[in-house]
Amino acid sequence: MSITLAFDVYGTLIDTHGVVTKLQTFMGDKAFAFSQTWREKQLEYSFRRGLMQNYENFAVCTRNALDYTCSYFKILFSAEQKNELLDTYRTLPAFNDVKEGLARFKNDNFRIFAFSNGSAEAVDMLLSTAGIKEFFLGVVSTDTIKSFKPNPAVYCHFLRTSGASGNSAWMISSNPFDVIGAISSGMRAAWVKRSEGAVFDPWGIEPTLTVSSLDKLNDAISRY
Ligand code: LAC
Repeated sequence: MSITLAFDVYGTLIDTHGVVTKLQTFMGDKAFAFSQTWREKQLEYSFRRGLMQNYENFAVCTRNALDYTCSYFKILFSAEQKNELLDTYRTLPAFNDVKEGLARFKNDNFRIFAFSNGSAEAVDMLLSTAGIKEFFLGVVSTDTIKSFKPNPAVYCHFLRTSGASGNSAWMISSNPFDVIGAISSGMRAAWVKRSEGAVFDPWGIEPTLTVSSLDKLNDAISRY
């Protein structure tokens, strides 16, 4: 059976800090720190909504986290500026290694899915804007079951929807919590360590593979 790949979207294929250029025009050199807090809060809100079973889609987590981050940095953005930032978030760029990495997987007949907390519409839009939609067999969103990663139910939902079994399905993610969640749910998982300083959580669960970029992943998975 051919190998199925579940690509995480935000932070793995798509650069969430692509919003920094726009932020810089509003706030200068605090832009990167703002973007980091915004992303961390967005994820925290998804974890909390999952735990509380108080589901709202990922775009709500993103918007609420933006409001929090403005308060935290004591910055008053106008409604128009916030909308501009959220529009930018809907059309974030892909990382440089993504197109070539996906093309190699496709060429080698891997079954390629996007698997994200983002709604199917939001992910579709991101993949289209980044010019990489053609590589995917489909988008699987946790929105369908109204929960978020790393609830085991969402990885089970991925396996069911993609028709893959755990030991022939790989999660590909730069987010350690996603790698740990997938392995804990019976999948294999590659951690894409996108920066030198990225730290993997001490959880007693290690990634099946670690790579620094997607172009190194094809050989690593094929050899595994
Ligand atoms: C996603 C989040 C984890 O794309 O970034 O699912």
